[in-house]
Amino acid sequence: MSTAENLPDGTISTRPSIIERPLLDRPLAGHEAHDPAVQRLRRRTFAIISHPDAGKTTLTEKLLLFGGSIDVAGAVRGRKTQKSATSDWMELEKQRGISVSSTALSFEFAGCQVNLLDTPGHHDFSEDTYRTLMAADAAVMVIDMAKGIETQTEKLFQVCHLRKIPIITFVNKVDRPGRVPFEILEEIERRFSLTPIPQNWPIGAGAEFGGIVDLHTDDIHLFQDRQSSRRSASKVLSWDDTELAESFRPELIESTQEEIDLVRTAGDEFDREKFMAGEQTPVFFGSALTNFGVEHFLHGFLKLCPPPSNQATLAHQGEIDDQNFSGFIFKIQANLDPRHRDRVAFVRVCSGRFQRDMEVSIARSGRKIRLARAMRIFGQERITIDEAFPGDIIGVICPGEFRLGDTLCEGPIVNYEGLPQFSPEFFAVLECADTSRRKQFDRGLAQLVEEGAIQMFYDAKATRREMILGAVGELQFDVVQFRLQSEYNAPSKLNWRSFKVARWVDIPKDSELTLPYAGKWVTDQFGYNAVLLQSEWDLKFLERENPGIVVHSIRRHDSETISPK
Ligand code: G4P
Repeated sequence: MSTAENLPDGTISTRPSIIERPLLDRPLAGHEAHDPAVQRLRRRTFAIISHPDAGKTTLTEKLLLFGGSIDVAGAVRGRKTQKSATSDWMELEKQRGISVSSTALSFEFAGCQVNLLDTPGHHDFSEDTYRTLMAADAAVMVIDMAKGIETQTEKLFQVCHLRKIPIITFVNKVDRPGRVPFEILEEIERRFSLTPIPQNWPIGAGAEFGGIVDLHTDDIHLFQDRQSSRRSASKVLSWDDTELAESFRPELIESTQEEIDLVRTAGDEFDREKFMAGEQTPVFFGSALTNFGVEHFLHGFLKLCPPPSNQATLAHQGEIDDQNFSGFIFKIQANLDPRHRDRVAFVRVCSGRFQRDMEVSIARSGRKIRLARAMRIFGQERITIDEAFPGDIIGVICPGEFRLGDTLCEGPIVNYEGLPQFSPEFFAVLECADTSRRKQFDRGLAQLVEEGAIQMFYDAKATRREMILGAVGELQFDVVQFRLQSEYNAPSKLNWRSFKVARWVDIPKDSELTLPYAGKWVTDQFGYNAVLLQSEWDLKFLERENPGIVVHSIRRHDSETISPK
């Protein structure tokens, strides 16, 4: 059974009944509106991960379209390609046609508040994406049907895996000639050791793609309108409907039925526990560009995506009280608005109720601070908010005391594990090109390191502490130089270093490291031991020559041992 709904543009959308109504799809009683335990259940907070061009922006836009946040498709794309109102450092985004900044987009749908964490599209800013994933409760992995799993998807998958968040897969561009669905499923299983559980099945591919079969209800959603800028209608049929025979070749209907039989007999059953443990991924097929399957996906996604946990899943020290506010800073960004020249810290709320003007403690230092201004940021727009609940992302003005990864809390101290640090792949020394601007250069660089725009390493052995900067993407250096110049009026000169890898090392006390010829022993900005190496071969040498050490490619912060600098 399906229910039909009249859409504002006059078309009919047919909602599949397989999709359970999300929790709390009812008007909230007065007292519930401010209750974190109730509001938590309404939240769905997730990020979309994909290789560039797989369709992340298009899907985001379509989700907002179906969520009613934008009227006509094009708004997000416009943001990506035109970027009219921007702060000066975002000039760089315009010049390069890339998206560096990322925030959160929110919309209400079917009784849920959906928080979509927006991540930069360019892989050079993947460090930012990695950190943003720390604030998500689930990830949507978009795969291009023709290209399958690509390198960036693989890297982002590893981060989701590290964070143990459930992954829902959207196989996009089914309207293009590409691989067959079974090939994609096999690839997901082989490359990620994830069991794919199809939720729907496409009828036809490429130009012939005309519908999907809901594998739970057996309803056939027939797409009728390829016009992509509005919510397009889908009609629901059953296998014996005459309209089905009129819409598809008999061989196509037959082969689709055979494929579905195979999926049902040979495939695994969906198991929520396995999904939550990152062992299974529900898979939806569709086409974001033509809207085919997007609404079906959105309903299915809301049912699958877990609400924020009442005991935050992140490791932490201290007791979480569901009524007390706690959250952590996963992003700091300066000069979002050139008129204010301020720094905004993005906080993921984990527990309790955030209220404007409330006093919170910074868990790292114990200092108390009043959060006078909090806002929701959508591109250049800032909307002041008075309250927020677990799962929400709020922007607070950064008074200069916040560090990336800081926990803010009300009541007894709770301290969430810090954000992981990922191995840079590009290294350089940045020199101040105008000695009269030295002070500004140093201040600017220190702030950019604090923001996480770049990582910093110090030579552990040299008496003069040479600072080597490291970044996962080369373009991060352009951003740093650009911002030093535009925000601090401090010109700089970049000298590349030939390192390619950083590895954090646990070294037994008082022992020395035997390094490959071109390796360097350093400490990072938090004081952790690390080595910079030129190749994988050097890495093997390091491990072979120093059997007592433990090498990490990702530094997970242990808040007890971090000595703030
Ligand atoms: P990204 O954010 O992951 O980088 O991908 P984006 O959404 O920008 O999509 C990349 C290209 O793929 C775009 O085309 C977009 O229109 C196209 N695309 C996205 N989803 C689908 C789909 O379901 N089917 C088809 N056929 N194409 C799709 P472009 O030519 O690069 O950009 P534009 O000129 O359309 O803006």
